[in-house]
Amino acid sequence: MEFPNCTVVDHPLVKHKLTLMRRTETSTATFRSLLQEISLLLAYEALRDLKVRDEDIQTPMAPMRAPVLEGKKLVLVAIMRAGQGILDGMLQLVPSARVGHIGLYRDPETLTPVEYYYRVPGQLADRDVVVCDPMLATGNSAVAALQRVKRSKPGSLRFVCLLACPEGLSNLREHHPDVHVYTAAVDEKLNEHGYIIPGLGDAGDRLFGTK
Ligand code: URA
Repeated sequence: MEFPNCTVVDHPLVKHKLTLMRRTETSTATFRSLLQEISLLLAYEALRDLKVRDEDIQTPMAPMRAPVLEGKKLVLVAIMRAGQGILDGMLQLVPSARVGHIGLYRDPETLTPVEYYYRVPGQLADRDVVVCDPMLATGNSAVAALQRVKRSKPGSLRFVCLLACPEGLSNLREHHPDVHVYTAAVDEKLNEHGYIIPGLGDAGDRLFGTK
């Protein structure tokens, strides 16, 4: 199935690392490193259209005009707590990015998000913002996080996740048709508990070793 609001990052390293992450027997330490490695690759693709401008520089050999990133620093916003795993990988690629956190927990009965923490750099206007969370499941947390960030009128907004499913992508497209999603794979479906099938289980538990 094709999702117009989504880019599946098609790379053998991403595929291979994701398979390792899915395996039940993969340890917490390995899961954590793999999430960082994949996130760096996802970020590479998600940030492909960042604007550059030329400036005069001097190499040891000659002067030249060379491209540098234009505009204000990028802002990466992690949906707590599993979003931290994606953030760590993205920060390896863009160490100067500003960082925000949104705390949302999923009400187990209604599966709707409840905000308990919001700390994001001020003045998002004109800044490129990337919201990240490993699992785009129901999409309710992503929809709420993007709504919250939009209040600060960012220059551009993207969403990066490790795994998505059709239900989450449709939900996101309905509420935020302007936000593009970058992911390593789109899985088959959501189960009745809001978990992605086949998925990889609870990303937060696997990342932090809580279970
Ligand atoms: N959150 C997870 O960690 N895993 C899922 O499959 C769905 C939501």
